[in-house]
Amino acid sequence: MTQPYVIDEMISAKTIAARIEELAGEIRTRFADSDKLVVVGLLRGSFVFIADLVRELDMNVEVDFLEASSYGNEMESSREVRILKDIRGEIQGRDVLVVEDIVDTGHTLAHVLKILNARAPRKLETIALLDKPSRREADIRATWTGFEIPDEFVVGYGIDYAQRNRNLPYIGCVRFTNDT
Ligand code: PRP
Repeated sequence: MTQPYVIDEMISAKTIAARIEELAGEIRTRFADSDKLVVVGLLRGSFVFIADLVRELDMNVEVDFLEASSYGNEMESSREVRILKDIRGEIQGRDVLVVEDIVDTGHTLAHVLKILNARAPRKLETIALLDKPSRREADIRATWTGFEIPDEFVVGYGIDYAQRNRNLPYIGCVRFTNDT
């Protein structure tokens, strides 16, 4: 069940595209000596971001996915992170970039990095399109962040509210219309 809401545009598709181009340049520099970069998208939220990001990376990449879930209900993060689907490839001795749509409490990213680090990659870096530092509980920060945002409920560009709105081409802010 969802309450009635409207969506206000927060970050336009054009602004996102420009930022991804910048970030891709920094990633290419950091991994300039990589034979083939393993880009791991965290499902489901990162599917739009990873698609746009890898198309800006003019280098050899292997795309893999890992599905983690941290939200026990529609709006609140729980501390328990479950791995629902692991990556398919081996990453020992390899260069890996984890792609996250949003870092909120940080528990998801912290948990995923712990698991992947234990497999002894050569380099392991992270990129998050959005960061909500005010919500952080785990001591973690992505190597690259697209945009720092305030503690607003956001949707679009892969991010959902109750499995809706992932297909919006921009990042929007949810405003509940029955707020008093
Ligand atoms: C969301 C989001 C991040 C994570 C961030 O995923 O996509 O992966 O929560 O929260 P955290 O920093 O508090 O851990 P979610 O578990 O909702 O799954 P989804 O990507 O399938 O929407």
